[in-house]
Amino acid sequence: MRLLGVCLLVQVLTGSIILQDPEQQRQDRTPIVLWHGMGDSCCNPFSMGSVINLLQEKIPGVYVLSLMIGSNVIQDTENGFFMNINDQISEACSTIRNDSRLTGGFHAVGFSQGGLFLRGLVQRCGDLKVRNLVSIGGPQQGVYGLPHCLGEDHTICDYIRRLLNYGAYTSWIQRLLVQAQYWHDPRAEEEFSEKSLFLADINNQGEKMNPEYPLNLEKLENLLLVKFSRDSMVDPKDSEWFGWFDPADGLTILPFNQTKLYTQDRIGLRKLDTV
Ligand SMILES: *[C@@H]1O[C@H](CO)[C@@H](O)[C@H](O)[C@H]1NC(C)=O
Ligand SMILES: *[C@@H]1O[C@H](CO)[C@@H](O)[C@H](O)[C@H]1NC(C)=O
Repeated sequence: MRLLGVCLLVQVLTGSIILQDPEQQRQDRTPIVLWHGMGDSCCNPFSMGSVINLLQEKIPGVYVLSLMIGSNVIQDTENGFFMNINDQISEACSTIRNDSRLTGGFHAVGFSQGGLFLRGLVQRCGDLKVRNLVSIGGPQQGVYGLPHCLGEDHTICDYIRRLLNYGAYTSWIQRLLVQAQYWHDPRAEEEFSEKSLFLADINNQGEKMNPEYPLNLEKLENLLLVKFSRDSMVDPKDSEWFGWFDPADGLTILPFNQTKLYTQDRIGLRKLDTV
């Protein structure tokens, strides 16, 4: 799963898909910002560490920043479960703004929930120059199923499952739990719009739309969404391509271009798809 992502990634980022001119391809060393997934950290040698090594091997001299949320690796992992996503995105924006190597623009690559958070970052921090956004298995329409955890930390995962079952939209659970902030119950759209601290906002779900969100997303050169055909992390996996349940029955999955998010062009997806 990781390798498939990385091969495709290198192709996209070195421009072998996007740029036709081989001379230009060789010179493209746009920096890359990575955001890790749930249960992982910026600097785990077996996950993000190997992605960084691979990118630097394929694109010699490229600058890669793997985002650390918090001041060390342990905090970074814990924050992936327990830090308000809105605050995480603010911190990430600030880290990127402070890094002079990124002021000329960069590609952003997010893994699992990191792919969703980076989309939020593109929409909210319009001053940053994100060129291509790659979301690898990012739950763009949220999840409606119990997440499986990477790694061995089953204690935290069991705890999260219990809380989500207890009531993802209960206000203290919303505030406490990252995964509750992108929990999306297809049979309770109204409650979701009112109570979801993150996803309902970033998907411009409510009555008052944020006009900057579509404008900022449309500035991307490319939005690449990688969906895994056998994913057990994101439920339903169609969410990785912006597919979601039909609100009429809460059961059937609609493809991305039949969802309200697309037909009403709430975040600029239709424009990106048709230009
Ligand atoms: C960015 O720089 C500002 C000003 O120097 C500082 O206050 C802030 O804490 C920095 N943010 C991060 C995330 O490093
Ligand atoms: C939706 O997207 C699919 C795949 O890109 C395409 O084949 C189909 O025609 C689109 N449907 C509409 C209603 O635009």
